[in-house]
Amino acid sequence: MAEKKKTTTARELHSEKVLILDFGSQYTQLIARRVREEKVYCEIWPCTAKPAAVRRFNPRGVILSGGPASVYDEAAPLGPKGVFELGVPVLGICYGMQVMAHTLGGEVGHARGREYGRAHLEILRRGGLFHGLSGKSGESSDVVWMSHGDKINVLPKGFRPLARTANAPVAAMADVKRKLFGLQFHPEVVHTPIGTRILENFVRRICGCRPIWDMKSFVDYTIASVRRQVGKNGRVVCALSGGVDSSVVALLLHRAIGDRLTCIFVDNGLLRRNEAEEVVRTFRDHLHLNLDHVDAARRFLRQLKGVVDPEKKRKIIGREFIKIFEEEAKRIGKVHFLAQGTLYPDVIESVSFKGPAAVIKSHHNVGGLPEVMKLKLIEPLRELFKDEVRIVGREIGLPEEIVHRQPFPGPGLAIRIIDEVTDENLELLRAADAIITEEVVKAGLYREIWQSFAVLLPVRSVGVMGDFRTYEKVVAVRAVHSRDGMTADWVALPARILRRISNRIINEVRGVNRVVYDISSKPPSTIEWE
Ligand code: XMP
Repeated sequence: MAEKKKTTTARELHSEKVLILDFGSQYTQLIARRVREEKVYCEIWPCTAKPAAVRRFNPRGVILSGGPASVYDEAAPLGPKGVFELGVPVLGICYGMQVMAHTLGGEVGHARGREYGRAHLEILRRGGLFHGLSGKSGESSDVVWMSHGDKINVLPKGFRPLARTANAPVAAMADVKRKLFGLQFHPEVVHTPIGTRILENFVRRICGCRPIWDMKSFVDYTIASVRRQVGKNGRVVCALSGGVDSSVVALLLHRAIGDRLTCIFVDNGLLRRNEAEEVVRTFRDHLHLNLDHVDAARRFLRQLKGVVDPEKKRKIIGREFIKIFEEEAKRIGKVHFLAQGTLYPDVIESVSFKGPAAVIKSHHNVGGLPEVMKLKLIEPLRELFKDEVRIVGREIGLPEEIVHRQPFPGPGLAIRIIDEVTDENLELLRAADAIITEEVVKAGLYREIWQSFAVLLPVRSVGVMGDFRTYEKVVAVRAVHSRDGMTADWVALPARILRRISNRIINEVRGVNRVVYDISSKPPSTIEWE
């Protein structure tokens, strides 16, 4: 008799977990991603979390992040009371280590200067946190990333130094008996090559977490929990854009409740070449989802007539989207739930401890929908980072082109036309953009680049074609590397690819006689021009 496969329950999947307390470091999310890469579930909580809540969470280990404060600042955050007496291992990173030293009776003092950047680590005690690392000074594997102003002068009772650098006599410390560890450097950043091993040693060997957080089990339990939440007769709508997040949400929901899900795809006329047709083909024809394709290009363009201010464009597009979505939901009939592709970084941002994420541009896609429509929310990706969403996508059969699609902003090409959004400008930008994508794909660079695209500038320049003087538009090419869109570096595309892109745009796109390359990083620039 065939054995019935047992579905992993949510409780099992989350049973062996680590809690990360955020003291405001820009790297806190990276810590979480590294832990998840070890297949260990973790959550980020603000360092102001209540001690009782921490105990209830019942983690197998706690990590204290870095942060901008000094323990001697007035009102310096010191984390939930009793965190070192929980009886589970604790790892303090940078400021987190200083909190540990300060709280447990050690002495933290100001370093002579801020130490920032690469340093060589000399490991004094092998094993434990440094299990499997050679520790010979001067080897490239011992390079670590420092960023601190304070240092440990006197260790708390019971602690011993584990490693040092030229400027930090206590670069790592431990009280092995109580399983308390501190690192002055950042193991979570790529500039600390041995960091992955250190974090693995902490969560797997020291905390004893098994690698049970995997995306296949995640899919099973999410489908089961969506079915429970929606019930036998509940109906769900979701906004599908064709990007990876909303596509994964749609497919997961379809697996869970089939035709009781309707995907609303609003074609706002601001999409890239052939994009709308591809979305319809993939989701309706190929994956057989119940897809409501709303061709609203004219409506959006009418609203955008004469508008050049970027924030105004965003507001108009957001408002119109909500209006259309509401109309459609009404037309579809009795709907109870709205499914959204909220990811874990969005969740963290709303609870983060004085994070650096001030609002520079208002990014509203479907924001505001749930309040307006009084629908109950389903957010199946709330626990996931983008890399995990991609793995889930592959797990449930999403085509590779969508799994690896570069991000595309909700307001679409409207914020890449640094001018009024007209049919003519859209056509021009689409043609230039398609050439860039084609060439980047052909060069095999599409996946490693975060975003590559064209921007249409509101400038005309003089040129000469054959015997004629021309006076035409300028296209900027933008390509950036990024991990999450928060910071970005411009990509040094090979000259031969830039040459091809420029030749093709000038030859094939009528109305453009000049192409420039954007060599600005974020910050201080942003990825999109508007
Ligand atoms: P910026 O331009 O702020 O972009 O550096 C960071 C990331 O966000 C995308 N972006 C948007 N996404 N609605 C969106 O859904 C928006 O209004 C918006 N503006 C920018 C951008 O493409 C990049 O990936």
